Amino acid sequence: MNAWARTSRLLLLALSAAVLYGCGERPPIVSVQHGYRGTGMEQNYNPRILASQAALHRAPAAAEPASADGPRAKEVYQNVKVLGDLSVGEFTRHMVSITQWVSPKEGCAYCHNVANFADDSLYTKVVARRMIQMTQHVNADWKPHVGETGVTCYTCHRGNPVPKEIWVAPTASRHSGGSLGDDAGQNRASNSVGYSSLPYDPFTPYLKQDKPIRVNGNDALVKTGAAANRQSTKQAEFTYGLMVHMSESLGVNCTYCHNTRAFQSWDQAPPQRVTAYHGIRLARDLNNAYMEPLTSTFPPNRLGKTGDVAKVNCATCHQGANKPLYGAKMAKDYPELTKVSVVSTSP
Ligand code: HEC
Ligand code: HEC
Ligand code: HEC
Ligand code: HEC
Repeated sequence: MNAWARTSRLLLLALSAAVLYGCGERPPIVSVQHGYRGTGMEQNYNPRILASQAALHRAPAAAEPASADGPRAKEVYQNVKVLGDLSVGEFTRHMVSITQWVSPKEGCAYCHNVANFADDSLYTKVVARRMIQMTQHVNADWKPHVGETGVTCYTCHRGNPVPKEIWVAPTASRHSGGSLGDDAGQNRASNSVGYSSLPYDPFTPYLKQDKPIRVNGNDALVKTGAAANRQSTKQAEFTYGLMVHMSESLGVNCTYCHNTRAFQSWDQAPPQRVTAYHGIRLARDLNNAYMEPLTSTFPPNRLGKTGDVAKVNCATCHQGANKPLYGAKMAKDYPELTKVSVVSTSP
């Protein structure tokens, strides 16, 4: 080997070492057994990444409880439609808490015209009222997914007015006129599918529409008749795109929910797969029942390039943890968020 070849090989080695180091995935990786012994169902965690995320997954302390006595908010204020049955003390506590969860830097003025708190002219206030109802709905009606842990605004917002993890429909795929040809909805390095070549929008078909996710056949090589598996390779790639998003959102491997010798088998799967099944329906419900109808409430600059409203996926709540905030039970300290309010229509 001549000197030049040796130098360039060394340079290449140094470069790849630097690139690998940059990934933060350098050993040691910790392996934790998740399935039955001998099934090889293990979870791999990187202790340095977990340590760097500890603050993100820590829940803030609950505010001091307020007295339930005294006049109701709806008797004192002019334009309270959802939380009117709280005492004035409880209502104020709620306002202070949502400010801490959603707009700690911007304060009350993020949602309010502070010259008139009853005014609904800021879109943020109108969205926030619907968000209170959405949070109540999650806690009251989605127990098969959120259990008694539940969610608060902080689960998704984490001190940001716009949650960090949201999705909008991507712009149309490049067409054959372009120099790179039609990308057919895949092969764009996208964070949504862990920078793989899988279809980069697994959200529209599964978390907005309810396209079938199951693609595996139960028998090998059954080509005809009722038992034939009609799912295409492309459909399987879409399913895998969603699965990569689910794994990344929860910070887990496929074996957290599957015995990978038979991806389709529920009998052999850990119970977390059933929770995940409900999670898919939960995200779909929030997107269709709450986010989509808010499209015209948002100003155009808050919508995606195609005019699509920002929506929820697994990462919106989970943000890299198997349970959001590692299962901290924040909602129990805010009983007004755990049941659905009867909405008063009178101003
Ligand atoms: C994230 C948005 C948001 C923030 C931040 C916020 N509020 Fe509110 N506020 C609302 C919503 C939504 C309502 C209406 C609730 C309902 O209809 O039940 C409301 C209603 C009120 C009302 C009742 C006004 C009336 O006469 O109808 C008062 C008073 C109030 N907020 C005070 C505050 C104070 C004080 C702060 C800051 C500590 C604050 N709010 C921060 C969203 C917000
Ligand atoms: C399940 C996740 C989730 C929960 C829980 C949640 N939000 Fe949101 N919120 C969203 C998403 C998604 C958006 C749309 C992002 C955007 O604004 O483009 C949003 C937007 C908002 C906005 C508009 C921000 C802007 O400037 O565009 C406000 C205000 C808001 N939420 C308040 C609240 C309040 C108050 C609560 C609790 C009562 C709450 N949210 C609970 C997901 C959530
Ligand atoms: C958090 C739990 C969870 C994780 C992690 C997960 N899956 Fe899934 N997977 C599911 C659920 C739930 C379904 C069924 C969805 C439905 O029917 O609505 C499913 C379905 C599938 C299917 C289709 C099975 C069939 O019946 O045809 C395949 C294939 C699959 N997953 C592969 C993977 C791969 C590969 C990974 C890792 C990249 C993975 N999954 C990670 C929960 C998970
Ligand atoms: C509205 C917020 C929210 C959304 C959206 C959400 N989850 Fe969850 N998820 C939770 C909460 C809260 C828990 C904790 C429940 C508990 O403690 O019993 C949880 C628990 C889970 C668990 C059980 C974890 C364990 O270790 O036992 C799985 C699996 C899961 N979610 C998967 C998903 C998947 C997959 C998606 C997207 C398709 C999703 N979740 C979307 C809030 C959410």
